[in-house]
Amino acid sequence: EKGGYEHFMLKEMYEQPKAIADTFSPRIKDNDIVIEELNMTDEEIKNIHKIMIVACGSASHTGMTSKYIFEGMARIPVEVDLASEFRYRNPIIEEGTLVIIISQSGETADSLAALREAKGKGAKVLGIVNVVGSSIAREADNVMYTWAGPEIAVATTKAYSCQLVALYLLAMKFARVREKITAEELKSYIEDLKRIPDQVELLLNNKNKIQKFANRYLAAREVFFIGRGIDYAISMEGSLKLKEISYIHSEAYAAGELKHGTISLIEEGTLVAAVLTQEELYQKMISNMREVSTRGAFVLAVTNEGNIEVERAADYVIYIPKTNKYFTNSLAIIPLQLFGYYIAVGRGCDVDKPRNLAKSVTVE
Ligand code: F6R
Repeated sequence: EKGGYEHFMLKEMYEQPKAIADTFSPRIKDNDIVIEELNMTDEEIKNIHKIMIVACGSASHTGMTSKYIFEGMARIPVEVDLASEFRYRNPIIEEGTLVIIISQSGETADSLAALREAKGKGAKVLGIVNVVGSSIAREADNVMYTWAGPEIAVATTKAYSCQLVALYLLAMKFARVREKITAEELKSYIEDLKRIPDQVELLLNNKNKIQKFANRYLAAREVFFIGRGIDYAISMEGSLKLKEISYIHSEAYAAGELKHGTISLIEEGTLVAAVLTQEELYQKMISNMREVSTRGAFVLAVTNEGNIEVERAADYVIYIPKTNKYFTNSLAIIPLQLFGYYIAVGRGCDVDKPRNLAKSVTVE
């Protein structure tokens, strides 16, 4: 059933190119984005004043990534909330607010309660869900399915990647309808999207290199992930992947926050994973990397192909292929997933079923 792979998690990582393509292919027609399930007229899309994205765990990280995309590309303000917070804070939902609930299982108790809270307050709710016919899929006003297929490993990989793609499609659709991007720009984004499956494949094929690197850090006490903007969102996911399956403590920080406290934790040999895929923020990130390396940190960098300058500030560099600035999380997450996976394997952890965790969290 694991199809020759040692764990479901590895199998599911390898299913990502296909899952990603299955999620975007049916929604791209003649250089346009067609999301029939959305059930929104262009007029309604133009009238969205605000998007509230509500989810738990990794699904909330895809929400965080998409905040930068909805705001940057479509110029729609976005709030991202954890479902367990949203449901109890009497959220303000005004006319023109679109609420998006993201969930792989479609059964997460807090996310379902948040959906009901939002509907009760009169919001239109869109579910981005993987399990067909699940509670969230049934109760949302509209459902956009991620076509990841069944995910067995507790740590999400392919569903996470498909959620990102579903959110890219929505942002592209909204941006085009609201005339924030031209037809030409949309076409070039679609071309970039179509390249992602092969680029992911390429990154997966680096696994032996990453395993070798991971094997040097099996005894690490803690790991820090840093990034800015969209790379801060991916740092959260990289950190969660590592800690949930390897039991090594890790934290994600917005790189600019380091000097407001966290930097005091850096010691000789502490591993810091820095993600820098946003060209306009390279220099800022390089300064942050220097700040930690002068205090003894070992710096692993994940950056775009061609950013050679990073080698002067990092001890080890993983390059991702070229895409546009909004889609980089889909590529940069692959080495981080592999890193978490191989650390957990090397430490002899139960990778597919980490202690104390359940695949679907149906209780609060
Ligand atoms: C982490 C992970 C969890 C889930 C979270 C939400 O790898 O899988 O953080 O993302 O429990 O679950 P769903 O998406 O089913 O609502």
